[in-house]
Amino acid sequence: MKSYVILISGRGSNMQALIAAQLPGRCAAVISNRPDAAGLAWAAARGVPTAVVDHKAFASRAAFDAALAAEIERHAPDLVLLAGFMRVLGQDFVKRFDGRMLNIHPSLLPSFPGLHTHAAALAAGVKIHGCTVHFVTPSLDCGPIVVQAAVPVLPGDSEAALAARVLAQEHVVYAQAARWFLEGRIAVIDGHVQLAGAANADGALRVPLD
Ligand code: GAR
Repeated sequence: MKSYVILISGRGSNMQALIAAQLPGRCAAVISNRPDAAGLAWAAARGVPTAVVDHKAFASRAAFDAALAAEIERHAPDLVLLAGFMRVLGQDFVKRFDGRMLNIHPSLLPSFPGLHTHAAALAAGVKIHGCTVHFVTPSLDCGPIVVQAAVPVLPGDSEAALAARVLAQEHVVYAQAARWFLEGRIAVIDGHVQLAGAANADGALRVPLD
């Protein structure tokens, strides 16, 4: 059976959605760079092995990356899932897991990379916002896109309201993308993801509707 490792830094709601989705693979471990990440207790309570690689304990990014990579490799996972993992990973680390590491980002990339994506979307006045699951490559928030989900930006939206609407979709598409990967349905060809057996989408999302 295939296996996967989830990396978190905090709340871990995407991690919970991934584990609850009963993916065709075993969750070998949940690893956090923060000892106080709330998601660790949730995973441990469900019998999932947990580990902490505290970035504050390392003198350099390279040393932290090496320790984190070693902790992941102990489990020899087929897939590494960054789920609200808030450390930038170095090139060597990213190359080591090339083609087998996914991230969930709370915007429709390439719009709004980096932090504070919901505030940026509100400031830009976009009518459609969302989230993206992508392969991790050395450039931040730039790797091949697996799947995106869009939500409307509604009049009067607060950052929190918009974040909650996007987060609900994150939980859906991240589990979907991980399932596709573990089923061997994802190929990256010329930097673009192709999904074997995908139905052609024929709907359009228009916001606002009159
Ligand atoms: C999620 O919204 C995720 O997309 C975002 O952090 C949140 C973590 O929530 N990730 C990033 O911004 C990565 N740059 P969670 O811990 O409840 O899954």
